[in-house]
Amino acid sequence: MNQKQLWEKQASADPIFAAITTKQQDYKDRLDHPIPFLVEADDKILELGCGWGRTLLPLTKRSKFVVGLDISYTMLAHVKKRGKKFGVLPNLVQADLAHLPFKPETFSIAFSTLVLMHVSQKQMTASLYEMHKILKKKGRLIVTLPNKNTTIGMISTFGRKLKWILGLSSTDAYVRYYTYSSLRLIFTKIYPHVTIKATQYRPLSYIPNTKIRIYNPNNPFFQRMSLWMEHRANAKYPLLKRFCQEFLILARK
Ligand SMILES: C[S@@+](CC[C@H](N)C(=O)[O-])C[C@H]1O[C@@H](n2cnc3c(N)ncnc32)[C@H](O)[C@@H]1O
Repeated sequence: MNQKQLWEKQASADPIFAAITTKQQDYKDRLDHPIPFLVEADDKILELGCGWGRTLLPLTKRSKFVVGLDISYTMLAHVKKRGKKFGVLPNLVQADLAHLPFKPETFSIAFSTLVLMHVSQKQMTASLYEMHKILKKKGRLIVTLPNKNTTIGMISTFGRKLKWILGLSSTDAYVRYYTYSSLRLIFTKIYPHVTIKATQYRPLSYIPNTKIRIYNPNNPFFQRMSLWMEHRANAKYPLLKRFCQEFLILARK
């Protein structure tokens, strides 16, 4: 099964679970997903791997020119449907993130959350070059990727290697984890200004690749604890950055 077929299948089964491993009742249907960067009304924004529009729809409400790109037509159909429900009309493009169908220097922001982890490092690097091309001068790149130095990062990386050695194929989405240092190396080769921030210190709320919930992801205690840790890691104690669940990478062309 190729990447596109896999995402079509996952999006048809359950788009919310496919995108963020959360059941619909935990996410709740809302249009207020926090956007992890400042948006000006005249920003031209491209979201790569927009999924069912969790961030794309709030972005479309805030800025005049927003485009959502995804490899899966089914995901894009879900965005359209949700957009209608909230009275938002998103611009959508079906394409692969390693081959962007836009003119150079079109966008001021390229944003992608929980997507580049699903492609190989080679594809991710190709995509980073593509984003560099379509960004305007001083344009901003904003990307999230999961940390390898977590229990799930280590188990998953080991499992992927073992499957590869045993020649077993997987029906789940491919997930690649990165360390803080490897991300710094990859991004600084392409972008002159790179900042990596730590985000998410909540323990896992679901058993990976299953719908088995360990605790409610909206649990206020874990949310507060995570924010407290993020603040410490990004302000005073940079060593803590190495142990977050996700990195937020901010780069400038
Ligand atoms: C884990 S979901 C995240 C969706 C969304 N960013 C969010 O956070 O809700 C990954 C998304 O990336 C898309 N995707 C995967 N590989 C892609 C590729 N090569 N090019 C474009 N989109 C891709 C999938 O179809 C899916 O919608």
